[in-house]
Amino acid sequence: MANQFMNKTFHANHHHLLLLFVSTIFFFTASACSNGNCQMLESCSVDTDCAHGLYCGNCSQLGKNQSFCIRAQVNIPTAIIKGLPFNKYTWLVTHNAFSIVDAPLLTGPQRITFYNQEDSVTNQLRNGVRGLMLDMYDFENDIWLCHSFHGQCYNITAFQPAINTLKEVEAFLSSNPAEIVTIIIEDYVHTPKALTKLFTNAGLDKYWFPVSEMPKKGEDWPIVTNMAQDNHRLLVFTSDSSKEATEGIAYQWRYMVENEPGDPGVQQGLCTNRKESKPLTSKTASLYLQNYFPTIPVQDEACKENSTPLTDMVAACYKAAGNVMPNFLAVNFYKRSDGGGVFDALDRMNGQTLCGCASVTGCQAGAPFGTCRNIELHNSSSPTGPSGSFSGSAQLTGSASRITCFLVIYKFYFFLILSALY
Ligand SMILES: *[C@@H]1O[C@H](CO)[C@@H](O)[C@H](O)[C@H]1NC(C)=O
Ligand SMILES: *[C@@H]1O[C@H](CO)[C@@H](O)[C@H](O)[C@H]1NC(C)=O
Ligand SMILES: *[C@@H]1O[C@H](CO)[C@@H](O)[C@H](O)[C@H]1NC(C)=O
Ligand SMILES: *[C@@H]1O[C@H](CO)[C@@H](O)[C@H](O)[C@H]1NC(C)=O
Repeated sequence: MANQFMNKTFHANHHHLLLLFVSTIFFFTASACSNGNCQMLESCSVDTDCAHGLYCGNCSQLGKNQSFCIRAQVNIPTAIIKGLPFNKYTWLVTHNAFSIVDAPLLTGPQRITFYNQEDSVTNQLRNGVRGLMLDMYDFENDIWLCHSFHGQCYNITAFQPAINTLKEVEAFLSSNPAEIVTIIIEDYVHTPKALTKLFTNAGLDKYWFPVSEMPKKGEDWPIVTNMAQDNHRLLVFTSDSSKEATEGIAYQWRYMVENEPGDPGVQQGLCTNRKESKPLTSKTASLYLQNYFPTIPVQDEACKENSTPLTDMVAACYKAAGNVMPNFLAVNFYKRSDGGGVFDALDRMNGQTLCGCASVTGCQAGAPFGTCRNIELHNSSSPTGPSGSFSGSAQLTGSASRITCFLVIYKFYFFLILSALY
């Protein structure tokens, strides 16, 4: 083909060359996509050029400065393969789901902390996030979400009263009766029964998965359809061991193993358990969470992190746990990637465990394990069928500029040093 083409060009006279030139331009112009027709990785100029579930972005950190369509929504695995135990699936978790760039300053002064996400918890859930990591503190005679230190919340590290975010979760569970959400609390609340009151006031008690029914010896969890029927659709874990006995809130480290968070969790090839966790190979915990985010979150770097290195770390953590797939994948800036990002990673994780296929989009309900539909791996961007009912916005919203970011980091450490002096 190429040779023929070159021969033709070679023999063409000037007139023909001009025609060829014009028609080539016409060809490229005509083939450029727009109006929601652009698929993943195709170049675009605005978000609306891209198909559903994609936004128009770039990844300068990988030298990809031209805008292209990037994936922003999960394929919900339970919509493809139903009826397996909860611990067979892998879910997307947002690390510090509440620490949102551009969050309003409710306490007055400029906040001095790190940000980990870019859109509201409602939008995160609508895009398929099913696990939220929330840091809760006693503050202002209430419980607040803060990104703080020394177990104390300050005006400059406070985000908002926790009930606001929990009400967003309630609204989501109420309008999506098949969905299951997990909340993992980094718990600095000391007021007795305050968490119980908080969840009740948010209307979340009716979805509570009872701690008495959680598997304690590494057995399988109930199957997801039964959890939905029973309306046991909210799993809550706390880092405070005392609250399981006093308030019936599951102590995370009885049920879950985790690798080290922060920089050790993104160190290629390594995946070791965090101090609080049993070894990753422990058979007495049936849930496994993979932390995958650097200690210092940088918005513009996240597209690089959430690409090939993520795939490699998933493989490392799978191996480190004795060929067990993590049930939760916790990341920063979940929509940032060089194309498929965390969403493609999740498709592969679920595909492998649920049906032995390269992607969950290759799974066929009712077919024997390993019977896969023929799919193009990089074509899973627009979820179809029951998993396609997304109402979240794919677009990126707020942004903290690089300068602000460094300033914030600088101020944060300055404050840490100050507070250490007192
Ligand atoms: C991409 O853009 C960044 C700044 O956003 C710049 O530093 C870099 O040189 C650009 N790379 C290319 C290949 O144009
Ligand atoms: C890349 O995207 C960011 C938004 O995430 C934007 O601010 C920046 O201008 C874009 N860079 C280029 C080279 O288009
Ligand atoms: C902290 O914020 C509260 C309002 O939420 C305000 O009443 C209080 O004065 C602030 N404290 C400082 C030290 O700014
Ligand atoms: C890939 O995406 C295009 C556009 O949405 C669609 O027409 C095609 O059927 C998809 N291919 C596969 C194999 O899913």
